[in-house]
Amino acid sequence: MTTSSSRETILQLFRETPSGFVSGEHISKILGVSRTAVWKQISSLRDLGYQIEAAPSRGYRLLQSPDVMLAEELRHGLSVQVVGREIQTLAETDSTNARASALGDAGAPEGMVVIADRQTAGKGRLGRSWVSPEGVNLYLSVLLRPQILPMDASQLTFLSAVAVCRSIAAVSGLQPTVKWPNDVLLSGRKAAGLLNEMSSETDRVNYVILGIGVNLNMQAEQFPSQLRYPATSLAIETGRRISRVEFTRTLLAQIDALYELYKSHGPCPVLAEWEEYCDLTGKPIEVDCQSRLIRGVMSGLDTDGALLVKTADGLERVLAGDVRPAPPAPR
Ligand code: BTN
Repeated sequence: MTTSSSRETILQLFRETPSGFVSGEHISKILGVSRTAVWKQISSLRDLGYQIEAAPSRGYRLLQSPDVMLAEELRHGLSVQVVGREIQTLAETDSTNARASALGDAGAPEGMVVIADRQTAGKGRLGRSWVSPEGVNLYLSVLLRPQILPMDASQLTFLSAVAVCRSIAAVSGLQPTVKWPNDVLLSGRKAAGLLNEMSSETDRVNYVILGIGVNLNMQAEQFPSQLRYPATSLAIETGRRISRVEFTRTLLAQIDALYELYKSHGPCPVLAEWEEYCDLTGKPIEVDCQSRLIRGVMSGLDTDGALLVKTADGLERVLAGDVRPAPPAPR
């Protein structure tokens, strides 16, 4: 048995025992190891931040679990079909997307999730970086192997956005909005970013990585002063600390449910729900496409996720760009 599966078994025993106390002898029998080995496992759980009481002749009792991103903690109470069947948690990595892609290339199964406590080279959209300090936020990547055409893979960005919005609402009671194509906002400030990456051949997808970064407990002073967009976190918006473990479990369950919906009903229900979270529909917008600026009224999404903008010259389909509300016309 690996250290992490032994720890998971011990945590399971604590949670299943109504009195709370589990004897060292019982744990050693279940794990098939010596009492000294049990004591070592208890110490390693304490080192991770679990508060465990030891009472002579009664055994051990779990007093409090820390908010640590450990696979064994995240799996507790998580009921999913595909997404999160396997979870890899890391103290640090360059980018969870890069790590998940490497796993995808090596044949890892659909639904595999990679989470890091900190990223040293977190990737944002359009070659930008994603600020990823330790211990406060969520940096997560999901490996999917959908049977779709490569041109439809961008639909999955909207699936991630809807899953993040549902999770924010469920965990914090806040009302998130979305900005095409990949931002989730709170009070008009960016709280989460999505970066999907794909490996494909001409007419088939090998895998898609859903990369999701959510600012959960980051404080205002932790944001770099020169951010492209105003940013916020759930903690700033609610005034309270958000449990990363609870948020992550909620998010995995939502991605799993939406992926089932996507596979059974196609992209329309997901795209329609995304549009409900979008407060710019029907409003004047500008889309900065780097080489040109498109001005018009946001009319919604095409079935492949392209943005539809009603301009003076007709309906434009936009595939990439930064959207913002149009500034008020000068009087
Ligand atoms: C953006 O808004 O520019 C997209 C940001 C995506 C950040 C997440 S954090 C987890 C995953 N790993 C990465 O390197 N990037 C994504």
